[in-house]
Amino acid sequence: MMTREEIIIFFFCSWGRTLEVFSGALATDMELLRRTNDSILSTPGKCIRPILSLLVAKVFGEPNGDSCRFAAAAEILHNATLIHDDVADNSSVRRGVPTVMASLGTMPAVLVGDFWLARALNVIMGSERRDIALRFFSKTICDLAEGEMLQLQKAAAGDTTVEDYLKIVYCKTASLFETAAVCGALSVDAPADMREAVGRYAACLGTAFQIRDDILDFGDAAKAGKPVGVDIREGKITAPLLCALDGAAEENKIRGIMREMASHPEYGDEVRRFVDRRGGVRLARRVLEKYVDESLDALGAMPPGKVRNLLSEFTAMIRKV
Ligand code: IPE
Ligand code: IPE
Ligand code: MG
Ligand code: MG
Repeated sequence: MMTREEIIIFFFCSWGRTLEVFSGALATDMELLRRTNDSILSTPGKCIRPILSLLVAKVFGEPNGDSCRFAAAAEILHNATLIHDDVADNSSVRRGVPTVMASLGTMPAVLVGDFWLARALNVIMGSERRDIALRFFSKTICDLAEGEMLQLQKAAAGDTTVEDYLKIVYCKTASLFETAAVCGALSVDAPADMREAVGRYAACLGTAFQIRDDILDFGDAAKAGKPVGVDIREGKITAPLLCALDGAAEENKIRGIMREMASHPEYGDEVRRFVDRRGGVRLARRVLEKYVDESLDALGAMPPGKVRNLLSEFTAMIRKV
């Protein structure tokens, strides 16, 4: 393990620079936009993606200006997707405060999300390794849009399969984890043959992270830190419900109910009782474990040392749900 002092020194150096890039990138003369940005910045998230990106860079070398740019871009892009996601999900609360959509309305929220997305790309444009990094980030931006669209399509049809679900999870969450980690490695010119392990490690971690979020949606709001029960209400068939449906005689009936959820939110209780009866959350935890294990397996191919141990602890924490 890194000592506490080493962790502090590491974060003091790279983290301070990353935060500077992050807030500097959002500068604007437009007053309403500036106030909105300040309000988003006043309730920051957990910053998992930039931490992942910087730690991966540190596994392979000394984080530099590009490492900080890629880490900051990952967090800016993540925030952009949440601003857009809250429009797609019609969510009124995030990080304990009203969403941009709830405060300003749908149209402004889409524009604010667009601004953050464009500024994430701007940050990458200022890096030395912009060509390769842009390839990864632009792929992830397409994945994000496709993932959210597929999720909407599947929620309306009520026919989500395990394969569809894993595709949605990869596109809307794991792809950005992968890009953040791979660009962290690229920033310090990690050996090309390490990219596969880094990508697999982060994609499995991101998948586990989204499955954990989907499990938390079946629990209580205090633990999740945001409103829960949202996914069923939105007609989304996620891991706990998919696991409950596997081999169930009531499958067609429950899928029919999910299709009608938008006009009959009162049906939600029946679906929740079905998931309880079938042990859906317990089964989904097993799937989560599988992805955490696969992620740790890929991590094992990366150079051993204190930073890899730190990544391993960070990854194992995702199991806790
Ligand atoms: C929330 O991500 C969206 C998911 C991918 C589940 P985070 O839980 O990382 O969000 P913040 O940034 O910490 O609020
Ligand atoms: C994650 O999905 C959203 C993105 C990665 C864009 P969710 O819709 O489950 O995220 P929360 O629950 O709103 O944070
Ligand atoms: Mg959402
Ligand atoms: Mg969620």
